Formats: sequence, C-alpha cells, structure tokens
Amino acid sequence: TGYITLDAGFKNTGATKSAITFLDGEQGILHYRGYSIEQLAEKSTFLEVAYLLIYGDLPSAKALETFRADIKKQMMIHEDMKNFFTGFPSKSHPMGQLSCLVGALSAFYPESLNPNASEEEENKTMINLLAKMPTIVSWIQKKSLGHPVVYPKNNLGYIENFMNMIFGEVNDEKTFDPVVIQAMHTLLILHADHEQNCSTSTVRMVGSSNANLYASISAGINALWGPLHGGANQAVIEMLEDIKNDGGDADKYLAKAKDKNDPFRLMGFGHRVYKNFDPRAKIIKKACDDVLEKLGVDDPVLDIAKRLEEAALKDQYFIDRKLYPNVDFYSGIIYRALGFKSDMFTVLFALGRLPGWIAQWKEMRDNKEPIGRPRQVYVGETIREYVPLDKR
Ligand code: CMC
Repeated sequence: TGYITLDAGFKNTGATKSAITFLDGEQGILHYRGYSIEQLAEKSTFLEVAYLLIYGDLPSAKALETFRADIKKQMMIHEDMKNFFTGFPSKSHPMGQLSCLVGALSAFYPESLNPNASEEEENKTMINLLAKMPTIVSWIQKKSLGHPVVYPKNNLGYIENFMNMIFGEVNDEKTFDPVVIQAMHTLLILHADHEQNCSTSTVRMVGSSNANLYASISAGINALWGPLHGGANQAVIEMLEDIKNDGGDADKYLAKAKDKNDPFRLMGFGHRVYKNFDPRAKIIKKACDDVLEKLGVDDPVLDIAKRLEEAALKDQYFIDRKLYPNVDFYSGIIYRALGFKSDMFTVLFALGRLPGWIAQWKEMRDNKEPIGRPRQVYVGETIREYVPLDKR
C-alpha cells in the first residue's frame, strides 16, 4: 500500500546498509573493509582477503593459520556427489554444473538448513564452501577432459592445491611458477567482492527468506553466469577471437557496438557504477602484460584488445556514455595464458566472488534484515469475465 517508486534495475535504489565494500564510481575507488584494492591485490593473499571480508578485520597470524587449517581439512567432497555429477554430459557448461553441485551440498550437510543455527555451525558452512568449491571446480575441469579427478593434498597451499587439482595428474603433483600463483591470488582478490551487484543481491535476496547458505550461493552462481555480469569474461575472449578471425578490424566492431539496431555490445566495456575507470581493470591490464611476458605467451588477442580499448576510449559514443574497460576485459586473456579453457572463466570469477557472497549473506543475517520483496506497478488488464473454452 502507499506510494510505490519505480526504479527498473535498481539504478538508484539502495537495498541495504553495508560495511563490507566501499565503491566510488566517479573516482574509480574500491575498498574492502577500508583497505584499498590496490594494496590488497599487491600485498595480500586470497584467503586473507576472504577472512577480511567475512569477519571484518585482517586476521592475526594465528587466526589466519587456524582459518587455513580449517579450510584444508574440509576440501574433500563426499564421494556420493560423484553419483549425480557423472550424469552431466561432459560438454555441459561449467557454470550449470557448479551451481548444481554447490546447491547439492545442502543435501549432504542438512544442518545448514536450520535458520537458527549457532554462529559456530554457520561458520562451518562458510568454511565448507570455501574449502569445497575449488575441489568442485577441479572436478568439472577434469570431467571436461575425461580425466580422473585429483584429490586435494594437505601439504599444499589453497591456490597451489586448486591449481594442482586442475592441472596436475593423479600421481603427478605439479609445481607452478610463482608468477602463476601470484596471478591467481591477484585475480581472485580483485573479484572477491563488489557490493550490491546482481549476483550478490541475489545471494542476499535468497538468504533473506532464510534459505540456507548453499542454496543462496548456488543462486548467486546462476546470476553471475549471465554475459552482462560474470559471463562477460568468456564473452570477451569469444568476441576477441571473432574479431581476429574476421581480419582483426577493431573499428568494424566498434561501429557495430554503436549501432542501436545491432544487439552487439562491446563485451568487457561499461559498468553500472564505474563512470570513470574500473580500478580492477587497471590492475588486471598490468598483470596481463606481466604474466604473458613472464610465461613467454604471445597471444594475438591481447593486441586486438589493446587496439579496441584505445579506439573506444577516443570514440565520442564511449566518451559520452562514460564506457571504460571493466574487470572482465583483460581477465580472460590471463586465464587463457594460465591454461584455462574459456568456458571455465566465469567459474573462476565465482570462486573469487565466493568470500564476498558469504560476507554479504552473513551481514544480511547479522543485521536481521527483512525478507526481500520488491513491489510493482500493475499495468495489466482490469477485471475480465471468464470465457469458457468453446466460446473463445
Ligand atoms: N557496448 C556498447 N554500448 C554500451 C555498452 C557496451 N558494452 N555498455 C553500455 N552501452 C550503452 C548503452 O547502449 C546505453 O546507451 P544509450 O544511453 O544510448 O541507450 C548506455 O551505454 C548506458 O548503458 P546501460 O545498458 O543503460 O547501462 P547499465 O548500467 O544498465 O549496464 C552493463 C551496465 C555492464 C550491463 C553494460 O555496460 C554492458 O552490457 N556491458 C557489456 C557487458 C559487460 O562487460 N559486463 C560486465 C560488467 S563488469 C563485471 C560484472 O559485473 O560482472
């Protein structure tokens, strides 16, 4: 009842107060819990940032050690999960498999269904998710290759473990160039939270009905899948490949992006909140140059991406609309250089975003926020008389 304000896409509507991430889109500023993204990307590690986002402060050395050890203990997945996992066609999209497997965890941990669970029990679910998601992602990768899964190893760090489960083999533990491990930390940190974006709002909304954390995260994964959101990283590489195969003419694709009769958009460009530059894109662009150089990878699409960016930034259409490269523009090029297939890119985004989703879900619960339930303005038919089928 009362006056309803319409705001399609929630462009100007705040859904919550939050103490997790600060974002100034005009200045291109991003902070997690008061720490700048530049400092965190350079100096921190992914699990430290996960702790920071979820619990509010950087951990002491002891707290971090416990956090890491707790996660390490939970990295195995119940073998019964394989029963339905094997039923997926091997070519099915990794994001569909990921959301399904994460949602299925609630069936294996029914204590997570209790909305009045103690803080300790709730914490177990959060640890479980951080621990099991890398293992799930590696299963998906191995399945796509038809290879046996590699189990987590207790002697390895979080990222090393993940990379070994992805690229190692059952009896052959793989070691990685420190540049590769550092790049993974940086990428996951940059993705770790981004205030009330589409997937995070979904996680909070689903959780607001007291649905369990696994179900809420599974919903967030599905929201992230879309090409306007996390799916953009895969779409960017596919677009760059198309441009390359079509003769490498960046201007032709800029023209298409500007043409209002053409549904084509320049993927990896534009952002709802950043109207200056995306600070994550700046860091990723630099990391991209460093990683490719260090690994000796010469990827022709990097050159196309740079030409496209340069041309777009000079173009009045993009200037007028304040469209800049976003986090997804260069991330796929790095993932590819590290050896990931393009349909795994969004899954990596999900792995990075997981601590943010958890932190936001926890904040929503701790704040005792009401169930999310937007209103509408009805514009359909007024009352009509039912007409029997034989009279229609
Ligand atoms: N290419 C061409 N035109 C664009 C683009 C683009 N990538 N993005 C926005 N525009 C135009 C749009 O057509 C509109 O023009 P006009 O005012 O003439 O109608 C204007 O710019 C404003 O765009 P909008 O769609 O109203 O803006 P939005 O805030 O609703 O959408 C966005 C933001 C990110 C969905 C959009 O910029 C987009 O579709 N970008 C491409 C997909 C992408 O890279 N997504 C990743 C976002 S960042 C990471 C993440 O969230 O996961």
